[in-house]
Amino acid sequence: MSTSPIDFVAAWAAAMRRRPSKRLDPAEDRAFWQQYAAEYDVRAGSAGAVPRCLALVAGLLGPDDTLLDVGAGTGRFTLPLARHVRSVTALDQSAAMLDMLERKASLHGITNIRRVEADWPNASVEPHDVVLAAWSLYRQLDIGAALARLVAVTRRTLVVLDGVGNDPPHRPLFERYFGAWSESELPNHLYLAGALWQQGLLAEVRIVTETRIIAGETAHAIAGQLAPLNTPPEVVTALAYDLAPLLAPHEDGYRYVYQQAAGAVIWHADCETQRR
Ligand SMILES: C[S@@+](CC[C@H](N)C(=O)[O-])C[C@H]1O[C@@H](n2cnc3c(N)ncnc32)[C@H](O)[C@@H]1O
Repeated sequence: MSTSPIDFVAAWAAAMRRRPSKRLDPAEDRAFWQQYAAEYDVRAGSAGAVPRCLALVAGLLGPDDTLLDVGAGTGRFTLPLARHVRSVTALDQSAAMLDMLERKASLHGITNIRRVEADWPNASVEPHDVVLAAWSLYRQLDIGAALARLVAVTRRTLVVLDGVGNDPPHRPLFERYFGAWSESELPNHLYLAGALWQQGLLAEVRIVTETRIIAGETAHAIAGQLAPLNTPPEVVTALAYDLAPLLAPHEDGYRYVYQQAAGAVIWHADCETQRR
């Protein structure tokens, strides 16, 4: 039982349980990523999707550092950041995601990445200079334990990136077509900073705004990139029609441009002004 006047840990658990797209069961979540790895890599997994988040993390790294990327996925942080550090440990529960990460690493001649297929927070890893968890804590009902373990393996800086609950222009349309909004609806970054605060740790919170650009020859191609996995073709066609007002003509097709904010929670191990 928390003695904190505000229980961010309990509020996070309640929020995660309410999420429409929750995959709290580890086997169900692994099965999802097994099926979705290639599609994730195309839709969201490229470093180009998060240039400002990448710049923020890169700015915290030095050439002799070791970096641990928890929930590394297909490597959109691991791969570009590997060039800034001595070595990276890419930890993920999903073999499919790590397979793709490894394929991309070898394609680009990156050789300083170690693969660890394991489940957080039960994984056994040694401390690293910098630890990153980007959009990978959604399954942690006990966020206090997950963060405590991240802190325990952080020698210098911990960075957690997550949604802030902002609404892109296509949200109302997607709710009409697919029901509940499956992205972060809540300021996850505040719960995370609050949960650290409950452990006596003061973290910085920064908002990072990325410009997302989805391009396609037709509105249908853009709708297909945005629609949930396995959306029937006729639904994509109808969605494309309704999405059209949000698209702008561009070169040989169209572009949908919108702002997507992320929250960065940054904790420095040497911060002398911890809460208590
Ligand atoms: C949304 S993807 C984010 C991947 C990457 N960090 C990025 O920003 O592109 C979430 C990743 O976290 C991994 N993940 C989720 N929960 C995990 C856990 N408890 N232990 C290890 N990996 C986990 C998933 O397998 C998936 O690859």
